Amino acid sequence: MSHLILEKPIRPGVALVRLNRPESLNALNRALVAELTDTLVSLDADPEIRAIVITGNERAFAAGADIKEMAGDSAIDMLILDQFQRWDQIKRLKKPLIAAVSGYALGGGCELAMLCDIIIASETAQFGQPEIKIGVIPGAGGTQRLTRAIGKSRAMEYILTGRFFSAKQAEAWGLVSRVVPPELYLEEALNLAAEIASMPPLAVQLAKQSVNKVYELSLEEGLHFERKNFYLLFASEDQKEGMRAFMEKRTPQWKGK
Ligand code: CAA
Repeated sequence: MSHLILEKPIRPGVALVRLNRPESLNALNRALVAELTDTLVSLDADPEIRAIVITGNERAFAAGADIKEMAGDSAIDMLILDQFQRWDQIKRLKKPLIAAVSGYALGGGCELAMLCDIIIASETAQFGQPEIKIGVIPGAGGTQRLTRAIGKSRAMEYILTGRFFSAKQAEAWGLVSRVVPPELYLEEALNLAAEIASMPPLAVQLAKQSVNKVYELSLEEGLHFERKNFYLLFASEDQKEGMRAFMEKRTPQWKGK
C-alpha cells in the first residue's frame, strides 16, 4: 500500500493500520483517505478481524487534511469532490476502532481520532482544530464531535483560537480514555483491541452501535434502541453459550452467531 501499512492479524483478531506519510506528518491527502476507507471497509467484512487499531508514528498521528492539495480548490471543486462523504464510511463500520495517538492529532487528524470508538494517547499527543488559522473551519466533524466530547465552552475556545491541547487535558476532559508513556501507547491500544476481540462479536457490535446512538437520539429513543439490541442478542448462540459457560464455570467459546 502506498500511504498505509497494514498488519493483520497483529494480535488474534486484531488489525493494525498505520498512516504512512511521515514526510508530511501524515497529512490526510485524498489518496490516503481513499485507501484508508477502502482498507477499513474491507477489514470490517473480514471474518478474521474483530477490532481495528489506527495509528500514525511517534511524531504525528495526522496533522490534518493536506493543505497543499486543497489550497487552490474552489468551493465548487470541493462540492463536486465531496471528500468528507468518504468519512461517513468510517462512521458506519461495525467493528470497534481504536485510535493510538502519538504526537500531532490536528484538524482532520483530530477528527479521525474522534471518529474512532476509543482513543489511547501517548503523553506526547497534542490535539487541536487549527483550521481557523488557515482561514477555514473543521469540515470532517470537528465542530460537532469535539463539542460533544469536551463541552461547548472549551470547544469554542480551542476551535476559535486554533490552539492545541495536551494529552493530559484531553484525558481530564474525557476525549481520550487513557494517557500512557510514549513507549506504551501502541502496545496499550493493541492489548485493548485484543481484549475486545476476545469478546462475543455480535454483542460487541451491538454495544458499539448502542453507545454511538447517544449522539443521535433522545434518551427515550436511545433506551428503546438499547433494549431492542439487548433482546435481540437472546437470539444468538453466543448468548446461550456465554450464560451456560458462566453456570458451568468454564470459558465460553464464541461463534459470532
Ligand atoms: N498539510 C500538508 N502538509 C503538512 C501538513 C498539512 N496539514 N502539516 C504538516 N505538513 C508538512 C509541512 O508542510 C512540512 O513539509 P515540508 O518539509 O515540505 O515543508 C512537513 O509536513 C513537516 O511539517 P513542519 O515543518 O511544519 O513541522 P513543524 O514541527 O515545524 O510543525 C505542525 C508541525 C505544527 C503540525 C505544523 O506542520 C502545522 O501547523 N501543520 C498544519 C496543521 C493544520 O493546520 N491542520 C489542519 C489542516 S485543515 C483540515 O484538517 C480540515 C479538516 O477539517 C479536515
